[in-house]
Amino acid sequence: MPRAHIELDKRAVIAPVHRRTFGSFVEHLGRCVYDGLYEPGHPSADEDGFRLDVVRLVKELGSTTIRYPGGNFVSGFRWEDSVGPREQRPVRRDLAWHSLESNQVGLDEFARWLRLIDAELMLAVNVATRGILPALDLLEYANHPSGTTLSDLRIANGSPEPHNVRMWCLGNEMDGSWQTGFMTADDYGKIAARTAAAMKMADKDLELVVCGSSGSAISTFGDWERTVLEHSYDYVDYISCHAYYEELDGDLGSFLASAIDMDYFIDTVVATADHVGYKKRSSKKINVSFDEWNVWYLKAHQESQKTYDEWRYAPRQLEDVYTVADAVVVGNMLMTLLKHSDRVTSASLAQLVNVIAPIMTEPGGPAWRQTTFYPFSITSRLASGDVLRPVIQSPQYETAQHGDASVVDAIATVDEDRAAVFLVNRHLTEPAQLSIDVRSLGFSRIAEATTLSDADVYAKNTLEAQCRVAPAANGTATLDDGMLTIELPPVSWTAIALN
Ligand code: AHR
Repeated sequence: MPRAHIELDKRAVIAPVHRRTFGSFVEHLGRCVYDGLYEPGHPSADEDGFRLDVVRLVKELGSTTIRYPGGNFVSGFRWEDSVGPREQRPVRRDLAWHSLESNQVGLDEFARWLRLIDAELMLAVNVATRGILPALDLLEYANHPSGTTLSDLRIANGSPEPHNVRMWCLGNEMDGSWQTGFMTADDYGKIAARTAAAMKMADKDLELVVCGSSGSAISTFGDWERTVLEHSYDYVDYISCHAYYEELDGDLGSFLASAIDMDYFIDTVVATADHVGYKKRSSKKINVSFDEWNVWYLKAHQESQKTYDEWRYAPRQLEDVYTVADAVVVGNMLMTLLKHSDRVTSASLAQLVNVIAPIMTEPGGPAWRQTTFYPFSITSRLASGDVLRPVIQSPQYETAQHGDASVVDAIATVDEDRAAVFLVNRHLTEPAQLSIDVRSLGFSRIAEATTLSDADVYAKNTLEAQCRVAPAANGTATLDDGMLTIELPPVSWTAIALN
């Protein structure tokens, strides 16, 4: 049985836990909005048409910030279509996802939905196919209190209070050939800088996110960040990262170590941003908004896309059904985001409902939790205070994609009255015996020890078996004289809370 040991030192603080790390992403894509969080005929729907069973699950998930309305969708979007009397809103073709957009849910409805789940709105503007003025108009409509044409229009549309959106994305994945209106780094950097400068003339306290690379594998990665920031450094606050992982060619060992790539991705983006900052002799630091991350079976999606021909409303797209192994990878990625809390201060799990999502729904039917729901909701609930850098002694294993990987990975958080340790065992077949020295934290009681694992690492939750996979108490955890011991099953994710 592999043995691992972890030392935790209360003084080894990386940074505070940022609540925005537990953000999600809602795009007008497939059944995320329509027949997902919005279904007027559903028995649980409220007067706005929002499903309250979904609201309950989103609250349990613990999403703090929601990025909206895209994604690729935003690059063909006219925000004006989605406000005002619903019966007058136009139906448009969404080229990004080859579907029809009814615009029945727009900014004002979505802001009301956010109040139900008590989360912050993070809004994306279309810099790809529109321009500075529509972005400024949207900002005025969303945030200006009253007394201007667009703020008064918002009030007339039933939103008397400004939405007060703080974080804004300057487009989406502008480096990708799949993006409507994609650009070179130079072209995008200039447009992003001008758009950001104009938005900050309206409100200097906005937090603006410039698009980084759509993935670390894209050939322009690194150069893109450098060029874009050379143009926009003084006007923006964040650079985005997007990363999706999947198990390829049956190589589960590499897949379980995906967080290593995420780690490298973040380090490279931070180094590039700091390089540009240094060249500019700027004292300002650009942080990372990791505003799309997840497991996504992209290869299967790309193959199925070839068969799209008709234009449909809310077609079933990207409805990946997640396994236990996927949940372990998601839990591990969230650990990596926490590990980088000194520079990753905002993140969004992509996406929230039905579309590569932790929550699934059936029209007229139930809503349920995917396997990936659990590591996210438990981490969002338990992580608080400061993130601690653990010293991990663990056996390694070789992966084809990421070099040597640690069998056990860990991160910890500590607050005044509690601490939490998050763990994965990436071993494919063997449990790991782990000891953790927690003396420095000063807590003596295990409040909770929860593990997600299964004899079948490909077990899933489905409409027919909604609770097939769920986390369970880990009865092997003990804490004596500041030494915590626990057995981690193979391919598992675990959270331990101490108080
Ligand atoms: O989340 C699905 C899609 O992935 C988003 O629309 C896009 O930004 C990314 O390529």
